[in-house]
Amino acid sequence: MATVKKTTGTSKAPRKKASEASAELTETTSNASAQDSETSHSEGEGVRRRDFIHIATVSFAGVGAAAVAIPLVSQMSASADVLAMASIEVDVSAIQSGQAIKTSWRKQPVFIRNLTAPEIAEANKVNIGSLREPQTLAERTQPGKENWLITMGVCTHLGCVPLGAAAGEVKGEYGGYFCPCHGSHYDTAGRIRKGPAPLNLKVPEYAFLSDTVVKIG
Ligand code: FES
Repeated sequence: MATVKKTTGTSKAPRKKASEASAELTETTSNASAQDSETSHSEGEGVRRRDFIHIATVSFAGVGAAAVAIPLVSQMSASADVLAMASIEVDVSAIQSGQAIKTSWRKQPVFIRNLTAPEIAEANKVNIGSLREPQTLAERTQPGKENWLITMGVCTHLGCVPLGAAAGEVKGEYGGYFCPCHGSHYDTAGRIRKGPAPLNLKVPEYAFLSDTVVKIG
C-alpha cells in the first residue's frame, strides 16, 4: 500500500492556467487535515477508487534548520523562497499501469504517468526527426524506469493545464495529453505533436529514491 505524506482531494481544473490550478491545490491542501481524517476511515479503498489523485507531498529538506537559525519575521519573508526551492517526494506505488496522477511542485502541476507497454511502444516507434522538439522517450525518462513519464502539467503554449491525467479525460490524437485551450496534442511521451505549443511538456529534475518513491526537484 502506498504511503503519502499528504494527499489532497480531487480538484480538476484542466482549462485553467497553472497558477490558478496551483492556487486551488494550495487551498485543497489546507483542508488536508480534515480530509486525512476522512481518508483514514476509507484507507485502502481511496486510492483504488480514485482515477485521479492529487498528491501534495513536500519534503522540506533544509527548511527546518533555516527556520531555527533566523528570526520569525525573516523566516516568514524567506519562506516563499525556501518553499519555491523545496523538493517533493511522491510514493508512486499506487499508480497502476495506464494511470496518472497530478501533484504539485513549486506551485505548478506535475503529471506522473505509469505508461503501459503499448504506450511505450507507441512512443518508441515515432520518427524522432519528425518531431517539433526531437526527443526519445528514453531521453525523457530514466534508465530502467521508462514506464514512468514525469512531466510538468503545463502546456508550453500559454500555460494551461492539459487534459489526460484522469481516466476518461481526452488524451488527444496521440494518446498522451490534450490542451483544449488552443488545441495542442501531446503524445504518450508528452511530446508536442499537433497544435500551437512549441515544446514538449517539460520534464522536471527528479530521481527515484527507491522503486516506489520519486523525488522531484
Ligand atoms: S495554452 Fe495549451 S494550447 Fe494554448
